[in-house]
Parts: sequence; C-alpha cells; structure tokens
Amino acid sequence: MEIFLDTARLEEIREAAAMGLITGVTTNPTLMMKAGRKDYREVTREICYLVQDRISAEVTSTDAEGMLAEAKEIATWSPHVVVKIPTIPEGLKAMSLISQEEVDTERLCQGCPWFGQCNTDIDTARDLVASWGIRINATLIFSPNQALFAANAGASFVSPFVGRLDDIGEDGMQVVADIVKIFDTYGIDTQVISASLRHPLHITQSALAGADIATVPYDVLMKALRHPLTDIGLERFLADWKKIAEES
Ligand code: E4P
Repeated sequence: MEIFLDTARLEEIREAAAMGLITGVTTNPTLMMKAGRKDYREVTREICYLVQDRISAEVTSTDAEGMLAEAKEIATWSPHVVVKIPTIPEGLKAMSLISQEEVDTERLCQGCPWFGQCNTDIDTARDLVASWGIRINATLIFSPNQALFAANAGASFVSPFVGRLDDIGEDGMQVVADIVKIFDTYGIDTQVISASLRHPLHITQSALAGADIATVPYDVLMKALRHPLTDIGLERFLADWKKIAEES
C-alpha cells in the first residue's frame, strides 16, 4: 500500500519526502487554511516540484460547469496534479464531463517557477497527460455506492473518509473494505485512497482492508514510525558501544 501525505504544509512534505515515505500528497481547502496559504496554484506547484508524483488539489465550485472549468485550469498546473471533485450529484456530472476532456498541453506547466527543473521534461509531461487525461480523485465519499458511482463516472481515485464515519459511530474501515471488494469483483481499476485517518492503527487497517493508498496526516505518520522499543534499543546499542570504546 502506498502512503500519501494529507497536508498542505511544505515543511511536513519536505520532511516526509526526504525519508522516502510518500508517493503523493492530498490537499483540500481546510488543509490550505491550516497551512495559512491561499495561493492554491503556487502551493500546489511547489508540492508537485517537491514530490513529483500524484498531488491532489480540490475544486471549490459546486456546480458541474464550474467544477469542469476549474478542473481544466488545475490540470495545466503540473503533469502530477490530480483534481479532487466532491461526490455530489453535480460532482458526478462534472466527473463524466472531465473524463472526456483532454489537458491543454500547450498551457501545461507554463509560468511555473520550477519549469525545466523537474525530472520530467516538458515533452514527456505532455505525452503523459495526453495519455492520462485529467485524473480525478472523488472526495467526500462515505459509502460504497458513492465510490461505485464515482468510479463509473471516470474517477481514477476514490477517497472514503474513515475518521469522519467513525466520528458518527459508523465503521469507516468497513466502508474501505467494501469498496475494495466491489472494485475487485468487477475488475474496476479505480484506486482506493483511505482518507481521514486519525491514528497509526488506521494505516495498518487500511492495508489489511486492501486500500491502494492511505493518505496520512504528518503527526500520525510520525507516531506510526516511532516505537519506544526502537528508541530504547538504539540507546542501549550506543551505550554498549561507548563502553567498548572506553575499555579499549
Ligand atoms: C483527504 O483527501 C481528505 O481531504 C482528508 O483526509 C480529510 O481528513 P479529515 O476528515 O481529518 O478532515
């Protein structure tokens, strides 16, 4: 299972990327607010440059035409960008329209501060987006039906929100497991991103449920990485090594 970072904070992304822990990032308007940023395009481009893999950026329109227009614009920011669309009736209309669209390859990466500095040169980037089209991450999913509908409408990723379901006394992880089972049964290649994760056990449970990706907040990722026995073990090794040095 791949790990994405669920944040818009650049310092967290730099740190997790340096550890080789992440292969993507998910953002949303709340995460942008928490990061104290409103320049969505600039932040998204910087995250794309830092990670150079799948970065989700969310539309803020609530009607299909508005979502389509935003998706077409966002898709030109970087070949790595994935457009997040809310799974509401207008969102499904937008997904159906967006999945027929091509990315405007002439505008791709134009004006980007990191133009020419990525691992992917512009010709390769244009070829990639020409084959992918506009990739969609269907967000705010709380049921297997919503996930199935989004996949049928052309979403490349669906994001069931585990923690928010747990918050209202439902079993969020069961929804992830059910979506994975349905997609496996019907050979649907839309990937499942286990989202709204609140603690390290959610990561393990997502992997056991068969999610393709878990998107994890930075503090949860760090909690999952640390183990007191690892720290105690290291302390002991270093103390013993010091003793050898003192004896010799
Ligand atoms: C990610 O795609 C989601 O937007 C995010 O995981 C939501 O998390 P929250 O429920 O903690 O806000």
